Amino acid sequence: MSETILKTEAIHTFIGQHHILQGVSFEARADAVTVLIGRNGAGKSSTLKTVMGLLPASEGKIIFKGKEIQSRKPYDIARLGIGFVPENMGIFADLTVEENMQVAMLREDAATAERLESVLEMFTALRDFWRAKAGILSGGQKQMLAIARAIINDTALLLIDEPTKGLAPIIINALIDAINQIKQHSVVVLVEQNFYMASSVGDYFFILDDGKVVHSGAMAELVQDEEMQSKYLGISKSV
Ligand SMILES: Nc1ncnc2c1ncn2[C@@H]1O[C@H](COP(=O)(O)OP(=O)(O)O)[C@@H](O)[C@H]1O
Ligand SMILES: [Mg+2]
Repeated sequence: MSETILKTEAIHTFIGQHHILQGVSFEARADAVTVLIGRNGAGKSSTLKTVMGLLPASEGKIIFKGKEIQSRKPYDIARLGIGFVPENMGIFADLTVEENMQVAMLREDAATAERLESVLEMFTALRDFWRAKAGILSGGQKQMLAIARAIINDTALLLIDEPTKGLAPIIINALIDAINQIKQHSVVVLVEQNFYMASSVGDYFFILDDGKVVHSGAMAELVQDEEMQSKYLGISKSV
């Protein structure tokens, strides 16, 4: 079994008075894509935000490569090598694609330039729209820019929140290809409600419900378990 890169141990998170995460424990292993799934409002986005330090954990531990990071600031966490693609993608519509990439770079060194080349090879549309305002991109292209911004830095771990939301199936296939490529360099934790996407890229799954992990295992098991899929995911079988 491969090494654990990220582990949360019973994290609790409040938003105002609301006890949103009630002891979430999950882990992401090296060389794998781990998918967090669960109904709307289950706590998936809050879990990623807590790992990034954007929401404070009131209890519990977050361990990245053996170090406790639960009390660090988001900027520090990013510098440790964790990339984050939030649900709203976090891109700047008024800036060009090029400027969006520049703003995202933590360093301007040769390694970053090399990564930029390979990112543009993977997402060729970004090269085509390099000098265009990001606001004119299609939904799928915006998602690609958002992912490009996260992986332009030397990330050992990439957290992506529902990249397929509102996208056409053909774009979803392009994202599946992209995640399978990213997986070669970086551990991926993906929040995903689209089961086609989740099962195409995922190696392991954790199901969240009401701020807790209720099931976890190998994705191959969940694919066989239609009862669990319909119980927690309300999945339509068609793609
Ligand atoms: N800013 C907020 N203020 C109050 N409640 C929030 C806020 N953000 C999220 N929540 C609540 O926290 C719970 C978990 O939300 P979230 O983590 O976004 O779920 P998911 O990503 O699984 O849909 C939901 O009940 C949601 O209503
Ligand atoms: Mg969410």
